[in-house]
Amino acid sequence: MKILVAEDEPVSRLRIAKMLSEIGETELFETGKPALEAFVKNFDEGTPFDMLILDVSMPEMDGIELLKEVRSFEKKKNITKEDRTKVLMLTSYADKDTVIACYVAGCDDYAVKPFKKHVVIEKMQKMGFTPDAAPPTETELSISKMVADAIEGFKKGKVELPSLPFIVQELQDMMNSPNASSSEMAKIIKKDTAISINLIKAANSPYYGGVENIKDVKMAISRLGLDKTRSIVSEIANKGLYETKVPYIKPVMDLLWKHSFAVAHLSRHIAGKVWSVKEEQAFVKGLIHDVGATLLIKNIDDIIAKQKKDSAQKDMMENNQALVDELISSVIEVHASFGGTLFKTWNFGKDFVDVARLHEWDKFDDEIDNEVLVVNLADQLSVTMGHGFPAREASTDMENIQSAIILGIEASELTQICNAASKDIDEAINGMD
Ligand SMILES: [Fe+2]
Ligand SMILES: [Fe+2]
Repeated sequence: MKILVAEDEPVSRLRIAKMLSEIGETELFETGKPALEAFVKNFDEGTPFDMLILDVSMPEMDGIELLKEVRSFEKKKNITKEDRTKVLMLTSYADKDTVIACYVAGCDDYAVKPFKKHVVIEKMQKMGFTPDAAPPTETELSISKMVADAIEGFKKGKVELPSLPFIVQELQDMMNSPNASSSEMAKIIKKDTAISINLIKAANSPYYGGVENIKDVKMAISRLGLDKTRSIVSEIANKGLYETKVPYIKPVMDLLWKHSFAVAHLSRHIAGKVWSVKEEQAFVKGLIHDVGATLLIKNIDDIIAKQKKDSAQKDMMENNQALVDELISSVIEVHASFGGTLFKTWNFGKDFVDVARLHEWDKFDDEIDNEVLVVNLADQLSVTMGHGFPAREASTDMENIQSAIILGIEASELTQICNAASKDIDEAINGMD
Protein backbone atom coordinates (compact mmCIF):
# COMPACT_ATOMS: atom_id res chain seq x y z
CA MET A 1 0.00 0.00 0.00
CA LYS A 2 1.13 3.51 -0.83
CA ILE A 3 0.94 6.10 1.93
CA LEU A 4 1.56 9.85 1.93
CA VAL A 5 2.50 11.39 5.26
CA ALA A 6 2.47 15.16 5.86
CA GLU A 7 3.87 16.09 9.26
CA ASP A 8 5.97 19.15 9.99
CA GLU A 9 7.62 17.98 13.18
CA PRO A 10 10.85 16.11 12.23
CA VAL A 11 10.93 13.70 15.19
CA SER A 12 7.31 12.69 14.68
CA ARG A 13 7.81 12.37 10.96
CA LEU A 14 10.65 9.88 11.37
CA ARG A 15 8.81 7.99 14.07
CA ILE A 16 5.69 7.64 11.91
CA ALA A 17 7.81 6.56 8.92
CA LYS A 18 9.51 3.90 11.02
CA MET A 19 6.20 2.53 12.26
CA LEU A 20 4.70 2.47 8.77
CA SER A 21 7.74 0.93 7.11
CA GLU A 22 6.46 -2.62 7.51
CA ILE A 23 2.97 -1.69 6.34
CA GLY A 24 3.68 0.02 3.06
CA GLU A 25 5.64 2.39 0.92
CA THR A 26 5.61 5.87 2.46
CA GLU A 27 6.43 9.31 1.14
CA LEU A 28 7.09 12.04 3.70
CA PHE A 29 6.38 15.77 3.49
CA GLU A 30 6.98 18.67 5.85
CA THR A 31 4.03 20.76 4.84
CA GLY A 32 0.89 20.81 2.70
CA LYS A 33 2.04 22.33 -0.59
CA PRO A 34 4.64 19.77 -1.69
CA ALA A 35 2.36 17.00 -0.39
CA LEU A 36 -0.47 18.27 -2.60
CA GLU A 37 1.86 18.44 -5.61
CA ALA A 38 2.97 14.86 -5.02
CA PHE A 39 -0.62 13.73 -4.60
CA VAL A 40 -1.64 15.28 -7.93
CA LYS A 41 1.47 14.04 -9.75
CA ASN A 42 1.02 10.45 -8.57
CA PHE A 43 -2.65 10.58 -9.52
CA ASP A 44 -1.88 11.87 -13.01
CA GLU A 45 0.78 9.23 -13.53
CA GLY A 46 -1.70 6.48 -12.65
CA THR A 47 0.00 5.46 -9.41
CA PRO A 48 -2.20 7.19 -6.82
CA PHE A 49 -1.68 7.03 -3.08
CA ASP A 50 -3.97 4.63 -1.19
CA MET A 51 -3.99 6.68 1.94
CA LEU A 52 -3.01 10.11 3.24
CA ILE A 53 -1.97 10.69 6.84
CA LEU A 54 -2.07 14.43 7.53
CA ASP A 55 -1.07 16.40 10.57
CA VAL A 56 -3.66 19.10 11.24
CA SER A 57 -1.21 21.71 12.43
CA MET A 58 1.50 22.59 9.90
CA PRO A 59 2.96 25.89 8.69
CA GLU A 60 2.09 27.38 5.29
CA MET A 61 -0.62 24.92 4.26
CA ASP A 62 -2.07 22.98 7.18
CA GLY A 63 -3.67 19.53 7.14
CA ILE A 64 -7.25 20.75 6.80
CA GLU A 65 -6.41 23.08 3.88
CA LEU A 66 -4.55 20.23 2.20
CA LEU A 67 -7.51 17.90 2.74
CA LYS A 68 -9.87 20.46 1.15
CA GLU A 69 -7.57 20.79 -1.87
CA VAL A 70 -7.42 17.00 -2.27
CA ARG A 71 -11.21 16.67 -2.10
CA SER A 72 -11.81 19.46 -4.59
CA PHE A 73 -9.26 17.91 -6.97
CA GLU A 74 -11.06 14.57 -6.72
CA LYS A 75 -14.40 16.27 -7.34
CA LYS A 76 -13.07 17.85 -10.53
CA LYS A 77 -11.94 14.40 -11.67
CA ASN A 78 -15.46 13.04 -10.97
CA ILE A 79 -14.28 10.54 -8.40
CA THR A 80 -17.16 9.20 -6.31
CA LYS A 81 -17.20 9.41 -2.53
CA GLU A 82 -16.61 5.64 -2.30
CA ASP A 83 -13.50 5.77 -4.46
CA ARG A 84 -11.88 8.79 -2.86
CA THR A 85 -8.44 8.49 -1.31
CA LYS A 86 -8.67 7.51 2.35
CA VAL A 87 -7.52 10.29 4.64
CA LEU A 88 -6.53 9.96 8.27
CA MET A 89 -5.97 13.19 10.18
CA LEU A 90 -3.56 13.50 13.09
CA THR A 91 -4.73 15.88 15.76
CA SER A 92 -3.24 16.98 19.02
CA TYR A 93 -5.22 15.43 21.81
CA ALA A 94 -8.91 15.44 21.00
CA ASP A 95 -9.69 19.04 20.35
CA LYS A 96 -13.39 18.67 19.43
CA ASP A 97 -13.54 21.71 17.17
CA THR A 98 -10.58 20.54 15.12
CA VAL A 99 -12.00 17.04 14.74
CA ILE A 100 -15.32 18.45 13.53
CA ALA A 101 -13.51 20.71 11.05
CA CYS A 102 -11.64 17.67 9.70
CA TYR A 103 -14.86 15.75 9.10
CA VAL A 104 -16.50 18.75 7.46
CA ALA A 105 -13.49 18.99 5.14
CA GLY A 106 -13.92 15.32 4.19
CA CYS A 107 -11.57 13.14 6.22
CA ASP A 108 -12.35 9.46 6.80
CA ASP A 109 -11.03 9.19 10.32
CA TYR A 110 -8.70 10.85 12.81
CA ALA A 111 -6.10 9.75 15.34
CA VAL A 112 -4.90 11.59 18.38
CA LYS A 113 -1.15 12.05 18.84
CA PRO A 114 1.17 10.47 19.92
CA PHE A 115 0.94 8.28 16.84
CA LYS A 116 0.29 4.69 17.92
CA LYS A 117 0.84 1.90 15.44
CA HIS A 118 -1.90 -0.40 16.71
CA VAL A 119 -4.46 2.43 16.62
CA VAL A 120 -3.56 3.36 13.04
CA ILE A 121 -3.69 -0.29 11.95
CA GLU A 122 -7.20 -0.59 13.40
CA LYS A 123 -8.24 2.54 11.53
CA MET A 124 -6.76 1.17 8.30
CA GLN A 125 -8.75 -2.02 8.73
CA LYS A 126 -11.93 -0.01 9.20
CA MET A 127 -11.15 1.75 5.91
CA GLY A 128 -10.98 -1.64 4.19
CA PHE A 129 -7.20 -2.15 4.04
CA THR A 130 -5.54 -5.30 5.30
CA PRO A 131 -2.22 -4.05 6.63
CA ASP A 132 0.01 -6.78 7.85
CA ALA A 133 2.22 -5.74 10.70
CA ALA A 134 3.56 -7.24 13.85
CA PRO A 135 1.47 -6.44 16.92
CA PRO A 136 2.82 -3.59 19.02
CA THR A 137 5.29 -4.47 21.72
CA GLU A 138 4.36 -4.19 25.34
CA THR A 139 6.69 -1.20 25.65
CA GLU A 140 4.99 0.66 22.81
CA LEU A 141 1.58 -0.01 24.34
CA SER A 142 2.50 0.92 27.87
CA ILE A 143 4.33 4.12 27.01
CA SER A 144 1.82 5.51 24.54
CA LYS A 145 -0.89 4.74 27.09
CA MET A 146 1.06 6.50 29.83
CA VAL A 147 1.56 9.61 27.71
CA ALA A 148 -2.15 9.62 26.81
CA ASP A 149 -3.11 9.10 30.46
CA ALA A 150 -0.80 11.88 31.59
CA ILE A 151 -2.38 14.30 29.12
CA GLU A 152 -5.86 13.24 30.25
CA GLY A 153 -4.83 13.71 33.87
CA PHE A 154 -3.66 17.26 33.19
CA LYS A 155 -6.83 18.02 31.25
CA LYS A 156 -9.06 16.83 34.05
CA GLY A 157 -7.04 18.72 36.62
CA LYS A 158 -6.06 15.50 38.41
CA VAL A 159 -2.36 16.20 38.18
CA GLU A 160 -0.84 18.59 40.65
CA LEU A 161 1.08 21.33 38.92
CA PRO A 162 4.47 22.53 40.05
CA SER A 163 4.90 26.06 41.32
CA LEU A 164 7.36 27.19 38.64
CA PRO A 165 4.82 28.49 36.16
CA PHE A 166 3.00 30.38 38.88
CA ILE A 167 6.01 32.25 40.17
CA VAL A 168 7.12 33.08 36.66
CA GLN A 169 3.58 34.17 35.88
CA GLU A 170 3.18 36.28 39.01
CA LEU A 171 6.44 38.06 38.28
CA GLN A 172 5.37 38.55 34.68
CA ASP A 173 2.00 40.08 35.72
CA MET A 174 3.67 42.28 38.28
CA MET A 175 6.20 43.59 35.78
CA ASN A 176 3.49 44.38 33.26
CA SER A 177 1.48 46.34 35.82
CA PRO A 178 2.02 50.06 36.42
CA ASN A 179 3.09 49.51 40.04
CA ALA A 180 6.04 47.28 39.22
CA SER A 181 8.65 47.82 41.91
CA SER A 182 11.32 45.98 43.80
CA SER A 183 9.19 45.83 46.96
CA GLU A 184 6.29 44.27 45.01
CA MET A 185 8.72 41.77 43.54
CA ALA A 186 10.21 40.99 46.94
CA LYS A 187 6.71 40.19 48.26
CA ILE A 188 6.20 37.56 45.59
CA ILE A 189 9.63 35.99 45.97
CA LYS A 190 9.51 35.83 49.75
CA LYS A 191 6.55 33.46 49.57
CA ASP A 192 9.04 30.76 48.65
CA THR A 193 11.87 30.35 51.16
CA ALA A 194 14.04 28.10 49.01
CA ILE A 195 13.86 30.53 46.12
CA SER A 196 14.62 33.48 48.41
CA ILE A 197 17.72 31.81 49.81
CA ASN A 198 18.98 30.86 46.38
CA LEU A 199 18.38 34.34 45.04
CA ILE A 200 20.45 35.87 47.86
CA LYS A 201 23.19 33.34 47.17
CA ALA A 202 23.18 34.23 43.47
CA ALA A 203 23.36 37.97 44.24
CA ASN A 204 26.40 37.33 46.42
CA SER A 205 28.13 35.12 43.86
CA PRO A 206 31.28 36.55 42.26
CA TYR A 207 29.40 36.80 38.96
CA TYR A 208 27.07 39.55 40.29
CA GLY A 209 28.94 40.33 43.48
CA GLY A 210 29.49 43.88 44.62
CA VAL A 211 31.26 45.18 47.69
CA GLU A 212 28.39 45.01 50.09
CA ASN A 213 27.17 41.67 51.41
CA ILE A 214 23.58 40.99 50.36
CA LYS A 215 21.44 39.91 53.30
CA ASP A 216 17.86 39.97 52.10
CA VAL A 217 15.66 39.59 49.06
CA LYS A 218 15.09 43.31 48.64
CA MET A 219 18.80 44.05 48.60
CA ALA A 220 19.30 41.25 46.11
CA ILE A 221 16.68 42.76 43.83
CA SER A 222 18.19 46.21 43.99
CA ARG A 223 21.61 44.85 43.07
CA LEU A 224 20.32 42.69 40.24
CA GLY A 225 17.50 44.83 38.88
CA LEU A 226 13.94 43.66 38.20
CA ASP A 227 14.62 42.01 34.85
CA LYS A 228 17.65 40.07 35.97
CA THR A 229 15.97 39.01 39.21
CA ARG A 230 13.08 37.59 37.30
CA SER A 231 15.44 35.57 35.11
CA ILE A 232 17.35 34.22 38.10
CA VAL A 233 14.17 33.33 40.00
CA SER A 234 12.85 31.52 36.93
CA GLU A 235 16.13 29.66 36.66
CA ILE A 236 15.96 28.56 40.30
CA ALA A 237 12.28 27.59 40.17
CA ASN A 238 12.90 25.78 36.92
CA LYS A 239 15.49 23.46 38.44
CA GLY A 240 12.95 21.83 40.78
CA LEU A 241 10.91 20.72 37.81
CA TYR A 242 13.56 18.30 36.68
CA GLU A 243 13.87 16.04 39.69
CA THR A 244 13.11 12.39 39.02
CA LYS A 245 12.50 9.24 41.07
CA VAL A 246 13.18 6.56 38.47
CA PRO A 247 16.94 6.14 37.88
CA TYR A 248 16.83 5.56 34.13
CA ILE A 249 14.65 8.62 33.57
CA LYS A 250 17.20 10.86 35.28
CA PRO A 251 19.51 11.14 32.23
CA VAL A 252 16.52 12.14 30.11
CA MET A 253 15.59 14.90 32.53
CA ASP A 254 19.18 16.05 32.91
CA LEU A 255 19.39 16.40 29.17
CA LEU A 256 16.15 18.36 29.11
CA TRP A 257 17.33 20.56 31.97
CA LYS A 258 20.59 21.42 30.22
CA HIS A 259 18.68 21.96 27.01
CA SER A 260 16.39 24.48 28.71
CA PHE A 261 19.40 26.40 30.05
CA ALA A 262 21.08 26.38 26.68
CA VAL A 263 17.99 27.64 24.91
CA ALA A 264 17.45 30.34 27.57
CA HIS A 265 20.99 31.72 27.26
CA LEU A 266 20.99 31.44 23.49
CA SER A 267 17.64 33.26 23.37
CA ARG A 268 19.09 36.10 25.44
CA HIS A 269 22.09 36.46 23.11
CA ILE A 270 19.92 36.29 20.00
CA ALA A 271 17.51 38.87 21.47
CA GLY A 272 20.52 41.17 21.81
CA LYS A 273 20.58 41.33 18.01
CA VAL A 274 16.85 41.89 17.54
CA TRP A 275 15.70 45.35 18.66
CA SER A 276 12.04 44.38 19.13
CA VAL A 277 12.73 41.54 21.58
CA LYS A 278 13.72 42.16 25.21
CA GLU A 279 16.65 40.04 26.35
CA GLU A 280 15.35 38.99 29.77
CA GLN A 281 11.91 38.13 28.39
CA ALA A 282 13.50 35.98 25.73
CA PHE A 283 15.57 34.29 28.45
CA VAL A 284 12.49 33.28 30.48
CA LYS A 285 10.68 32.05 27.39
CA GLY A 286 13.70 29.99 26.36
CA LEU A 287 13.89 28.52 29.83
CA ILE A 288 10.36 27.18 29.81
CA HIS A 289 9.67 26.63 26.11
CA ASP A 290 9.68 22.84 26.59
CA VAL A 291 7.48 22.86 29.69
CA GLY A 292 5.10 20.45 27.95
CA ALA A 293 7.84 17.83 27.63
CA THR A 294 9.10 18.41 31.17
CA LEU A 295 5.71 17.99 32.81
CA LEU A 296 4.81 14.91 30.77
CA ILE A 297 8.09 13.18 31.61
CA LYS A 298 7.77 14.17 35.25
CA ASN A 299 4.27 12.76 35.41
CA ILE A 300 5.34 9.49 33.77
CA ASP A 301 8.28 9.29 36.16
CA ASP A 302 5.72 9.47 39.00
CA ILE A 303 3.57 6.75 37.47
CA ILE A 304 6.54 4.41 36.95
CA ALA A 305 7.84 5.08 40.46
CA LYS A 306 4.47 4.04 41.87
CA GLN A 307 4.30 0.95 39.66
CA LYS A 308 7.66 -0.20 40.95
CA LYS A 309 5.96 -1.30 44.12
CA ASP A 310 4.16 -3.87 42.04
CA SER A 311 6.79 -6.54 41.48
CA ALA A 312 5.23 -7.87 38.26
CA GLN A 313 5.85 -4.50 36.61
CA LYS A 314 9.27 -4.15 38.15
CA ASP A 315 11.26 -6.09 35.56
CA MET A 316 9.76 -4.24 32.67
CA MET A 317 10.34 -0.89 34.26
CA GLU A 318 13.90 -1.35 35.28
CA ASN A 319 16.63 0.01 33.08
CA ASN A 320 14.81 -0.39 29.85
CA GLN A 321 16.45 1.54 27.01
CA ALA A 322 13.67 0.74 24.54
CA LEU A 323 11.24 2.23 27.00
CA VAL A 324 13.29 5.39 27.38
CA ASP A 325 13.50 5.82 23.59
CA GLU A 326 9.80 5.28 23.21
CA LEU A 327 9.13 7.70 26.06
CA ILE A 328 11.20 10.45 24.48
CA SER A 329 9.71 10.06 21.04
CA SER A 330 6.09 9.91 22.23
CA VAL A 331 6.61 12.91 24.48
CA ILE A 332 8.34 14.92 21.75
CA GLU A 333 5.48 14.22 19.39
CA VAL A 334 2.90 15.92 21.62
CA HIS A 335 4.93 18.30 23.76
CA ALA A 336 4.61 21.48 21.71
CA SER A 337 0.84 21.52 21.40
CA PHE A 338 0.52 20.22 24.96
CA GLY A 339 2.80 23.00 26.24
CA GLY A 340 0.71 25.58 24.39
CA THR A 341 -2.43 24.24 26.02
CA LEU A 342 -0.79 24.28 29.45
CA PHE A 343 0.09 27.96 29.09
CA LYS A 344 -3.46 28.65 27.93
CA THR A 345 -4.94 26.88 30.98
CA TRP A 346 -2.56 28.85 33.20
CA ASN A 347 -3.81 32.07 31.58
CA PHE A 348 -0.41 33.04 30.25
CA GLY A 349 -0.44 35.43 27.30
CA LYS A 350 -0.46 34.46 23.64
CA ASP A 351 3.31 35.07 23.54
CA PHE A 352 3.99 32.13 25.88
CA VAL A 353 1.41 29.93 24.15
CA ASP A 354 3.00 30.58 20.76
CA VAL A 355 6.55 29.97 21.97
CA ALA A 356 5.50 26.56 23.29
CA ARG A 357 3.47 25.68 20.21
CA LEU A 358 5.77 26.88 17.47
CA HIS A 359 9.30 26.56 18.80
CA GLU A 360 10.09 23.55 16.60
CA TRP A 361 8.54 24.68 13.36
CA ASP A 362 10.85 25.22 10.43
CA LYS A 363 8.57 27.31 8.26
CA PHE A 364 6.60 30.37 9.33
CA ASP A 365 3.66 32.54 8.36
CA ASP A 366 3.99 36.31 8.02
CA GLU A 367 2.28 37.10 11.32
CA ILE A 368 4.84 35.20 13.38
CA ASP A 369 6.12 37.05 16.44
CA ASN A 370 9.84 37.82 16.64
CA GLU A 371 10.06 36.36 20.13
CA VAL A 372 8.88 32.99 18.81
CA LEU A 373 11.54 33.17 16.10
CA VAL A 374 14.21 33.94 18.71
CA VAL A 375 13.36 30.86 20.80
CA ASN A 376 12.97 28.74 17.68
CA LEU A 377 16.44 29.77 16.51
CA ALA A 378 17.87 29.16 19.99
CA ASP A 379 16.31 25.68 20.01
CA GLN A 380 18.03 24.87 16.71
CA LEU A 381 21.37 26.33 17.77
CA SER A 382 21.27 24.32 21.00
CA VAL A 383 21.53 21.19 18.84
CA THR A 384 24.72 22.40 17.17
CA MET A 385 26.17 22.97 20.65
CA GLY A 386 25.39 19.42 21.76
CA HIS A 387 22.54 20.52 24.03
CA GLY A 388 19.61 19.52 21.82
CA PHE A 389 16.55 17.78 23.11
CA PRO A 390 16.20 15.10 22.08
CA ALA A 391 19.94 14.62 21.56
CA ARG A 392 20.57 14.39 17.83
CA GLU A 393 23.06 15.01 15.08
CA ALA A 394 23.48 18.67 14.32
CA SER A 395 22.53 19.82 10.87
CA THR A 396 25.43 22.03 9.88
CA ASP A 397 23.41 24.09 7.45
CA MET A 398 23.56 27.41 9.31
CA GLU A 399 22.71 29.31 6.11
CA ASN A 400 19.22 27.90 5.88
CA ILE A 401 17.62 28.28 9.28
CA GLN A 402 14.30 29.97 8.49
CA SER A 403 13.97 31.83 11.79
CA ALA A 404 17.48 33.32 11.39
CA ILE A 405 16.69 34.41 7.84
CA ILE A 406 13.46 36.15 8.89
CA LEU A 407 15.22 37.82 11.83
CA GLY A 408 17.96 38.96 9.47
CA ILE A 409 20.78 37.25 11.38
CA GLU A 410 23.61 35.96 9.22
CA ALA A 411 25.36 32.63 9.54
CA SER A 412 28.58 34.27 10.76
CA GLU A 413 26.66 36.03 13.55
CA LEU A 414 25.16 32.70 14.57
CA THR A 415 28.61 31.30 15.25
CA GLN A 416 29.40 34.36 17.39
CA ILE A 417 26.16 33.91 19.30
CA CYS A 418 26.96 30.25 19.98
CA ASN A 419 30.44 31.10 21.24
CA ALA A 420 29.21 33.84 23.54
CA ALA A 421 26.34 31.74 24.89
CA SER A 422 28.48 28.67 25.40
CA LYS A 423 30.42 30.37 28.21
CA ASP A 424 27.21 31.40 30.00
CA ILE A 425 25.68 27.96 29.58
CA ASP A 426 28.62 26.14 31.10
CA GLU A 427 28.70 28.58 33.99
CA ALA A 428 24.97 28.22 34.61
CA ILE A 429 25.02 24.43 34.46
CA ASN A 430 28.02 24.10 36.73
CA GLY A 431 26.64 26.68 39.12
CA MET A 432 23.33 24.87 39.51
CA ASP A 433 24.52 21.27 39.45
FE1 LIG B 1 10.73 21.23 22.09
FE1 LIG C 1 13.48 22.58 22.91
